[in-house]
Amino acid sequence: MADLSVNFAGISSPNPFWLASGPLTNTGYQVMKAFDMGWGGAVWKTVGEPVINVSSRLAAIDYGGRRMMGLNNIELISDRPIDDNLREIAEVKRRFPHHAVIVSLMLASDPTLWSDMMRRVEDTGADGVELNFGCPHGMSERGMGSVVGQVPEYSQQITAYAKSGSSLPVIVKLTPNVTDVRMPARAAVAGGADALSLINTINSVMGLDVETWLPDPHVADRGSHGGYCGPAVKPIGLYMVSALANDRRVPVPLCGIGGIETWRDAVEYLLLGAGAVQVCTAAMHYGFRIIDDLTEGLNDYLDRKGLASVQDLVGKAKHRVGDWNDLRLSYSYKTVAEIHADQCIGCNLCFVACDDGGHQCIDRLPGQRAPVVRKDDCVGCNLCSLVCPVPGCIEMQDIDLGLVETWRQRQSRVGF
Ligand SMILES: Cc1cc2nc3c(=O)[nH]c(=O)nc-3n(C[C@H](O)[C@H](O)[C@H](O)COP(=O)(O)O)c2cc1C
Repeated sequence: MADLSVNFAGISSPNPFWLASGPLTNTGYQVMKAFDMGWGGAVWKTVGEPVINVSSRLAAIDYGGRRMMGLNNIELISDRPIDDNLREIAEVKRRFPHHAVIVSLMLASDPTLWSDMMRRVEDTGADGVELNFGCPHGMSERGMGSVVGQVPEYSQQITAYAKSGSSLPVIVKLTPNVTDVRMPARAAVAGGADALSLINTINSVMGLDVETWLPDPHVADRGSHGGYCGPAVKPIGLYMVSALANDRRVPVPLCGIGGIETWRDAVEYLLLGAGAVQVCTAAMHYGFRIIDDLTEGLNDYLDRKGLASVQDLVGKAKHRVGDWNDLRLSYSYKTVAEIHADQCIGCNLCFVACDDGGHQCIDRLPGQRAPVVRKDDCVGCNLCSLVCPVPGCIEMQDIDLGLVETWRQRQSRVGF
């Protein structure tokens, strides 16, 4: 059996799966139940001056018969008294000394508030704090959340306030609502962050009812932009983790968040450089019980790969995602489509997609059900294989043309 335990920025956890800050981690009851069921850690629902929430709060996008591909929320931080939260955090830590208990914080930009709160959190015995610089709605209009994460100087300053208040590890949770996530990340590191977690939710309007013209979700007759998460956002989370894992100016551990539902999703984040992961939407959708599949799946995977621990995976594929200019140009390496006629159902989706939205290199021949690819003309864009409804019917084949040349290499050879 592989070792699933991790040490993330000095915080030890029996496995790399933490519940993300949100409705799942609002009370001691929930966090203790989750730990009993196998979760390694939890980031408490963001604590700060208690807010008053609205009703309703959530909306989802279903796609192709799948519920909650994307989830949007307009919930704010904890609406419970700070004392109640801190008392329950202390109780959880007393009962589960070997699990990771992280307190998410969001406070106004006042050094005294931060140092007082950091001392109070330290008194609970919690393992660390996560600074919520990410919530894109409600709190941002009050000068907190993503407005802090969007201004590197503020991120640096508030991280420094938190760091000076205690010796607890400080994880800064970043917002994806920026043009280049490396800038706030570098600023948080400059402010003393021990680690970064990403992503928080993405600004979004889920949709309108075209009959009533009401947005989704709505509060009486109005809506507001909210934070988008769930399976649909995983590619954005993966990109941002990979961008930071490959940035020499961000030499701190990364905690991957966004669309994690299966052990495979988690492995992708770990391979790109995350040292632990957090889950929100999937556990809201299916319950805490998904931890069994996550831990068993990761365990089996590590055994199958002959790896002894989670650490053996962390960052192992981060070099595989990089600058476009380092990819081999198409006269050096290409892929071409092969349509397996014996599997083709003759739907012609590949022909239509290639003819209208691709490069016009698939032909329909009289008397033949399966279209045929003109391989010399195929640019290897993948579109036909993506639209084909029969798994394995269209295969992309690698053709190595020998010469290895990227745009960067070509530029130094011929100047363009
Ligand atoms: C209803 C809801 C409330 C949330 N509240 C918080 C919060 O209080 N603090 C925070 O840092 N993130 C909060 N989040 C964001 C999650 O922690 C997480 O970053 C995001 O949902 C992406 O992960 P996922 O795709 O697994 O859901 C919330 C998310 C949801 C859906």
